[in-house]
Parts: sequence; C-alpha cells; structure tokens
Amino acid sequence: MNKKVAILISGSGSNMRALIEASLNHKFPARIELVISNKSDAGGLLIAKEYGIQTRFLDRKLFDNNEDYDSAISNLLKERNIDVVCAAGYMKIFTKQFVETWKNKIINIHPSLLPEYKGLNTHNRVLDDHKKISGCTTHIVEKELDAGPILIQASVPVKSDDTVESLAKRVLIMEHIIYPLTLKRFILGQV
Ligand code: GRF
Repeated sequence: MNKKVAILISGSGSNMRALIEASLNHKFPARIELVISNKSDAGGLLIAKEYGIQTRFLDRKLFDNNEDYDSAISNLLKERNIDVVCAAGYMKIFTKQFVETWKNKIINIHPSLLPEYKGLNTHNRVLDDHKKISGCTTHIVEKELDAGPILIQASVPVKSDDTVESLAKRVLIMEHIIYPLTLKRFILGQV
C-alpha cells in the first residue's frame, strides 16, 4: 500500500515539485497528501495547488511558542494518517517534541555534503573555503540540526568561476534527483 507523505516548505518548493512529480508515477510507493508552509507567500503553495494537493499555511505568529506551533503541525499530520514527513526547503527548526513524535519518519534535504557545512549559507562557505567538491545530502531528521543518519548524497564539482547562484543551481539539479530517490528507497527500506 502507498505511504502517505506530507511535505513541509517555506519557499519556492522546487524539491517539493520533484517529489510530487515522482509520486505521479504509479510505481512510486508514496502519494503526497498534504503540503504545509510556515510562509504565506511560499511559491510552493501555488505549485502544490496546481497539482491538486491540499495545502495549509500555519502562521507561527498565532502560536505562543514553537512547541504549540509544532503540535498544530503534528495534529494536521495525524488527522491525515501521514506516514512520512519530507522537509523540503523548510526553514524552521523542529522542536525536540516534534522530532520525538515523528522519530525516524522525517527526512530532510540539505545543500552540502554533510557532515560538512551544516546550517545556512552553505554555498557561500564552500566558495570561501575554495572547495573543489560540494553537493547535497538527504538525511533522517534528529534533534541536532542537519545531523541525522545520512541516506543519499550526490557530489557536484565546484568550478573556479562559480558564484553562489551558479553553484546553488547545479546543486539543486542533483537535489531534485536524490530527494525522490531517497523517499522511494526510504519507504521500500532500501536506505
Ligand atoms: C534547497 O537548496 C534546499 O536544499 C534548501 O533550500 C533550498 C530550497 O529549495 N534547504 P526549494 O524550496 O526546494 O526550491
């Protein structure tokens, strides 16, 4: 039976789109049930709607604290019997309680070869360090930021004339390949 997946986003949602596109193949072992954003103007919300997927925007300002906010997300996920949560450009750190509730069920994608360059501005830092190779990583989400078990990585050569934008663009192409592959293999127990 197909697993039910929710995607959490904050922005343009290109990884979300890659996951949705992959799930349209009848052989894909998951279907995308819900997209949740913490930003009302996330471009990904419109894309998800175009695919006929239910979307929700949850405004952090309406909650007293992050725990209450994440509990509201948890409730939405439970109402829909979600099996797997994919963070795709979701720019908010999960509370410990959320990670505990969804232990081993949250996957994230990060635009670096973890464990190197955790956190923000990865491409900037890679270029500043004159690295020859960068890449992207999918991993299981644990309490510590960008530190859970690695699932799949793809490397991307850094060119001598790369800018943050050009490197980000090439890394993103690989993200769109490894994220659907990760979700598929994760569900099939192959990673
Ligand atoms: C991606 O590079 C993702 O890895 C990072 O933020 C970027 C957002 O991409 N966390 P998108 O919203 O999926 O287009």
